[in-house]
Order: sequence, then C-alpha cells, then structure tokens
Amino acid sequence: MEIRAAVLEEFGRPLVVQTVELTEPAPDEVLVRLVACGVCHTDMYTASGADPSGYAPCVLGHEGAGVVERVGADVTLVEPGDHVVTLFSPQCGECVHCKSDKTNLCMKIRAQQNAGYLPDGTTRLKRGGEELRHFMGTSTFAEYTVMPEIALAKIDPEAPLDGAALFACGLSTGLGAALRTARVEPGSTAVVFGAGMVGLGAVAGARLAGAERIVCVDLSPERLELARGQGATDLLVGGEDTVERILEMTDGFGADYTFEATGLVSVMRQAVEAARMGWGLCTVAGVAGKGEHLEVIPRWLIQGRRIAGSSFGGLKGRDDVPALIDRWMAGEIDVDPFISHRIALDDVNRGFDLMHAQDGIRSVIEFG
Ligand SMILES: NC(=O)c1ccc[n+]([C@@H]2O[C@H](COP(=O)([O-])OP(=O)(O)OC[C@H]3O[C@@H](n4cnc5c(N)ncnc54)[C@H](O)[C@@H]3O)[C@@H](O)[C@H]2O)c1
Ligand SMILES: [Zn+2]
Ligand SMILES: [Zn+2]
Repeated sequence: MEIRAAVLEEFGRPLVVQTVELTEPAPDEVLVRLVACGVCHTDMYTASGADPSGYAPCVLGHEGAGVVERVGADVTLVEPGDHVVTLFSPQCGECVHCKSDKTNLCMKIRAQQNAGYLPDGTTRLKRGGEELRHFMGTSTFAEYTVMPEIALAKIDPEAPLDGAALFACGLSTGLGAALRTARVEPGSTAVVFGAGMVGLGAVAGARLAGAERIVCVDLSPERLELARGQGATDLLVGGEDTVERILEMTDGFGADYTFEATGLVSVMRQAVEAARMGWGLCTVAGVAGKGEHLEVIPRWLIQGRRIAGSSFGGLKGRDDVPALIDRWMAGEIDVDPFISHRIALDDVNRGFDLMHAQDGIRSVIEFG
C-alpha cells in the first residue's frame, strides 16, 4: 500500500514528508493505523546526525498510538480493531531478560531493530526500488506502520489515543523510573532534575508511589509550575548550588531517591551527590551526548549512595503500559497538560522547531 511518511533522507536536514510503499506484515507482524504520535528528543537527536548509531534513509517516529488494521497469520497477541501503543522496547516474554524481573531489555529482536530492520532482517518500507529502514522498530511518523506483535501494547479502547501516544516513550519513561526502576517507597523524599516530559513523569510516578516530599529542579519557572500540577511539593531553579540547597532541605542528608532527566552529565553528578548517604538511589534516565562521561567521586558510593540507569523506565511494555493507561483512565495521572501542540504530519519539522525552542512539553502529530 502507499502511505504518507516523514523520511529522514540526510542527517542535519529537515525531514521530507512523502508517499512511500508499505508492504504486508510477515506472519508474526501487525499492520497498525497510526492515530497520534508524539515528537520526542530521540527523533530530533537522530535527525541531527549526532547519534552515532543513526541510519538514513529511514522513517522516524517512535511515540505512536493507533488501531490494529491487519495481522499476520501467526499473530495471537492482538487482533484487528485493538487499540495499541507502539513499543520501541518490546516484550517477547521468553528471553532471559523477559523472564527476569530485574530488567526490561528484551533480547529477541534487538540486533535487527538496532540496525533498522524488522526481525527477519528485511524492511517493509520502500520507495521506488530502494529500501527505507525502520527507526527504533517503530517508524510512527507515518499513516501506517508494520511492527512485530511483541512490540505492541494492547490498551483500553476508551483511552484517547493522543494522550496514549505519550505512554509510548517519554511519560512512561518517567513514571517507570519512579515506580519500576527506583521503586520509590511511601513516605520518602524524591528529587527530580529536569521538568520535561521524562522528569514530569517521574514527579507523577513519585507521587503515585506515595513519596511525601517531591522536589523538582529545572531552569524554567513555567515548567516548574507544571511539576507542581503533577505533585511536586517543592520547586527549585537549578544552578551551581543545587546540591547544597537540597542538603539544606533534607537535614543535611540528601534525598532517598533522585532522578536525572536532563541528559546533562553535570546534572547527573548533582543527582548522585544529592542522594542520601546510607541508601540514596540516583536513577539516570537522561541520554548524554556522544563521548561524554559521568564523574563520580568513589567515596560517594562507599557511603551507600547507589546509581541505576533506566531505559523506558524499566517497564515491561506489554504488561506495564496498559496498566499505566488504566491508572490514567482512573484519574490518577493528568496527561492533558503535556500536550502543548497538535500538528499535522506535514508539520513534523515544526514539531522539532518547537522542541528546540522548549515551547511546550510535547507536540503530538494527529493523523487526519
Ligand atoms: N532512558 C530512556 O529510555 C529515555 C527515554 C526518553 C527520553 N530520554 C532522555 O531523557 C532526557 C529528558 O527528556 P525530556 O523529553 O524530558 O527533555 P526536555 O529537554 O524536555 O527536558 C529537560 C529539562 O531539563 C532542564 N534542565 C536543563 N538544565 C538543567 C539544570 N542544570 N538543572 C535542572 N534542569 C535542567 C530543562 O530546562 C528541561 O526542562 C533526554 O536526555 C532524553 O534523551 C531517555
Ligand atoms: Zn522517545
Ligand atoms: Zn524478551
């Protein structure tokens, strides 16, 4: 079939929205009609050429939600008409990582996905005779996409798909960092560095986990106000003295849990140093620039501070994303404030401009 899609033709150049060919799903794959897709930093990062593992030409996009249109002969997990959230982090349920509750890094299709192919090592996207690769196994800046069934989370059909799209990456990453990776305990103190989509999700996750005090640190007063709406009890404009100020707020000890959601190694260091001696856990969700290093004085660790990294919030997508959507539907998570702009696929580059200007939290592409 012919579909409209936003193609990364060349690094550092605007995406080109055009008609491309999408071929039928393989036996264990699914054809999904996209209804909404968020524009995330990782899309912009790859488009810029800064990502060393990026490839082109490919169809970008990974924060998608839509409706199952057709399924391959062997598909058992979803059926036509199901509402789904796309998962760049799949869950096969069978591999050594899926069987462990310590990680969500499913190994089943990882190598091919990282190279831009579907699990059988080929692509379903073409233009003329040329193949186009699948970004993050999702390629959701498109009217339709073909994905493996293990990379789709079946969700409540009542959930609006524009909000549901945010659970495909940024929002779930923050919520999961607090609920899954850190497993924040009731009555504890949490500090979240960064009030973008990921940090605001971590604030909401800490609140859901019953944290008593939630400090959010950002440079932008408007974003800090959004953090208050998600449950932050204290707001702090970030700077050189952030660690000192957090120590002052916590009787000199530091916080039980800290979360880093800026991608800046200098802030990661602050997040480690603001964690409490004895048991403070620093969860790093931000993606640092190529070649950057995190500097940590070993004594901070000997004194009992710990550091954990978190990909997709440690969530097992097919199990955990539908459950988070249910909590949203139950009124426990307020998603509307995150959707700042609604744009058409043709305006995808404007989505990047808005993100670059830090105008709003998320632009969501709506497919008409
Ligand atoms: N681990 C994952 O699976 C995963 C998934 C999605 C995104 N990410 C990464 O998470 C990070 C955050 O993503 P986002 O979409 O929320 O980004 P964002 O740019 O919207 O938010 C980052 C925030 O950090 C704030 N900030 C900048 N300097 C600061 C400082 N010195 N102190 C405190 N705050 C400061 C900015 O004002 C901004 O509000 C990015 O690095 C992104 O690549 C990781
Ligand atoms: Zn993302
Ligand atoms: Zn697996």
